[in-house]
Amino acid sequence: MRVFVAGATGAIGKQLVPRLIAAGHEVYGMTRSASKQALLSQMGAVPVVADALDADQVAEAVGRAKPDVIIHQLTAIGALDTRHFDRDFARTNRLRTEGTDYLLSAGRAVGVRRFVAQSYGAWPYIRTGGPVKSEEDPLDPTPAREMRETIAAIRHLEQAVLGARWTEGIVLRYGAFYGPGTSMAPGGQQFEMVRRRMFPLVGDGGGVWSFIHVADAAEATVAALERGRRGIYNIVDDDPAPVAEWLPALAQQIGAKAPMRVPRFLGRLFAGEAGVVVMTDARGASNAKAKRELGWRPAHSSWRQGFTAS
Ligand SMILES: NC(=O)c1ccc[n+]([C@@H]2O[C@H](COP(=O)([O-])OP(=O)(O)OC[C@H]3O[C@@H](n4cnc5c(N)ncnc54)[C@H](OP(=O)(O)O)[C@@H]3O)[C@@H](O)[C@H]2O)c1
Repeated sequence: MRVFVAGATGAIGKQLVPRLIAAGHEVYGMTRSASKQALLSQMGAVPVVADALDADQVAEAVGRAKPDVIIHQLTAIGALDTRHFDRDFARTNRLRTEGTDYLLSAGRAVGVRRFVAQSYGAWPYIRTGGPVKSEEDPLDPTPAREMRETIAAIRHLEQAVLGARWTEGIVLRYGAFYGPGTSMAPGGQQFEMVRRRMFPLVGDGGGVWSFIHVADAAEATVAALERGRRGIYNIVDDDPAPVAEWLPALAQQIGAKAPMRVPRFLGRLFAGEAGVVVMTDARGASNAKAKRELGWRPAHSSWRQGFTAS
């Protein structure tokens, strides 16, 4: 298939493009920067320079490539201060709202058969009921105030993609990435916070996180492109775990001191309500549907081995 990847140069894009090429697909990779064209060519993709937030540029880029499929991997997360969650996600939220709409409309004009888009499968789930959620479970109807716009943008992306009845819209709710180029790799924000003992364990640390190695996320994306059907797939590992379990284990694995423990009220001061929610209250996700329908298995089945294997 001829595949147009928006977000081809990012942490997931760099894993995805070579796998698409290896699977025999023809790939067009989008970037804003002329300077990243060489990287795309090296990976085997045809470079396309366009700004995802410019509808005309997107329409022209997609119109020229005439892909069979579009894969939307656009984010712009950068450093995150959970006290200002929506502020720090503002650009990503635009990519998930306007960016999605521009790609969909460009895709419709050339009649793409499939549209695969990145979503998130960890903290957005409803915070009542069991610790691990399936695709059938609702997203959080009452998010922390600082996260409202971010969850609204995720909802927009998902509804727009699934509602595009002229194509096969597939939403991939990835778990929290770790592995090369992610914030959980040496030098990455979260990894360094854990290393420097600046990632405290808030309250009981009962928030459940689902992780995924970025290479496994890319493998699942190729499987979804080839075998997925309209709908949502959680792309997470086999081992959702509470913060109280994974955070001390990660600290130990990387030779850092055990994380500080802080009560909720102090956590609220330093990490805001959103930080407290993800540390104490978030729910994880189940990968049963992706395994069943995509024939996919994460090579890194648990963060327990994966964190240090990356
Ligand atoms: N599920 C998860 O846990 C998850 C999901 C996403 C990101 N993250 C993490 O967040 C950290 C930061 O990632 P990031 O968001 O900065 O992503 P990134 O990994 O740097 O990738 C962002 C991609 O989006 C493209 N992009 C952004 N804005 C664009 C625009 N206006 N027009 C065209 N392309 C645009 C970038 O292309 P150019 O820069 O080449 O233009 C790049 O290919 C990483 O550590 C990553 O692992 C985690």
